[in-house]
Amino acid sequence: MIRFIGGKGGVGKTTLSAAFALSRARRRERTLVVSTDPAHSLGDVLGRTLGDDPVEVWPGLWAAEISGEAQARRRVEQVAEDARHAVPADVLPAVERHLARAAESPGTVESALLDRLTDLVGQVGHRWDTLVVDSAPTGHMVRLLTLPALLTPWIEGLARQRARAAGTERLVAGMIGDTAEQEPDPLLRRLHARRDRMEWMRTRLTTDALVHLVVVPERLPLAETIRAAESLGDAGLRLGAVLVNRVLPPDDPGLLGRRIEQQTEVLRELERHFPGETVVRLPLLAGALTGVGELAALADLLDAADLG
Ligand SMILES: Nc1ncnc2c1ncn2[C@@H]1O[C@H](COP(=O)(O)OP(=O)(O)OP(=O)(O)O)[C@@H](O)[C@H]1O
Ligand SMILES: [Mg+2]
Repeated sequence: MIRFIGGKGGVGKTTLSAAFALSRARRRERTLVVSTDPAHSLGDVLGRTLGDDPVEVWPGLWAAEISGEAQARRRVEQVAEDARHAVPADVLPAVERHLARAAESPGTVESALLDRLTDLVGQVGHRWDTLVVDSAPTGHMVRLLTLPALLTPWIEGLARQRARAAGTERLVAGMIGDTAEQEPDPLLRRLHARRDRMEWMRTRLTTDALVHLVVVPERLPLAETIRAAESLGDAGLRLGAVLVNRVLPPDDPGLLGRRIEQQTEVLRELERHFPGETVVRLPLLAGALTGVGELAALADLLDAADLG
C-alpha cells in the first residue's frame, strides 16, 4: 500500500503521516514513513534524528527523511569520479565546476528526489507492506508526482537523438570498412533504462498509490485543496479520503483552557529566545480573513505594534 499525505503548509501533514503510519504498524504491517519535504520535521514529530536510511522508531515502524540535494550530490560525485579518469587534467576543474552547479539546479534536485522515492516504491511488497509519504506542501507534491509523466517523453526525445547519432556513426564505420560488430551504445541503454523506470513509477503512482489531502476547516486551505484535487486528477492520480484536521469539537469545554495553558508556555519560551526583538501577539480571529475589509483588523493590530 502506498499513501501520499499532502496539503497546504502547516495543516498537519507530518503529524498525520506519522500517526497513520503508526496505525498501520500497530496492525503488524511493516511500515515506512518517509518525508520528502526539504524542511523536514518528521524527526521532530517522532522525537528521533532521521536521515536517508530508514530507522526503526517503533516495532515495525520505520522512518526516514530523504533529500533530493543529498541524492543529487552523491550522483554528481560519481560522475565527477568517472570524469577524473576520462577527461584531460587541464579541463577537469571546469568540468567539476559545471557538475557542482548542475547538482544544485532545481531540476536535478527534484529528479534525484524522485529517483530515491522510486527506489522506496520499488521496495513496497517486499521490504515494506506500507509506504506513507509525508509530502512537501501542495505545489511541490503535485510537481513531484507528475514528474514521471513529464520525464518519460523528454527521455524518449534524448534517446531518439542518441539513436540517430549512433546510426550515423555506424554508417560511417561501414563506409571506412570497419564492419566489426558495434558495442550496443551504453548511453542509449542507460536512457532506455531510465525511461522504463519512469514509466514503471508512473504506473505505480497511478494504479497503486492514493493521495490523502489534509485540510483544516478554513477558507484558504479549502480553495487550495479543491485546486490540488483537480491537478492530481488531471495527472491520473487517485484521491483517498480527505483528512479534515483540527476541527473544533463542539462539546469539549476543557479544551480551550488546556490549549491556553500550552500556548502560555510556548509564548514564554518565544520571548526567552528573542529577548532583543519585540514579539508581537496577534489573536485568533473569527473571520475568514480574505478581502481588504477583513484584513483591516489585523492591519490595525500591526499598526499599533509599530513594526518600524
Ligand atoms: N489534530 C491536531 N490537533 C492539534 N494540533 C495539531 C493537530 N494536527 C497537527 N497539529 C499541530 O499543528 C502543527 C503543524 O502540524 P504539521 O507540522 O504536522 O503540519 P504540516 O502540514 O506537516 O506542516 P508543513 O507544511 O510545515 O510541513 C504542529 O504543531 C502540530 O502539532
Ligand atoms: Mg510537514
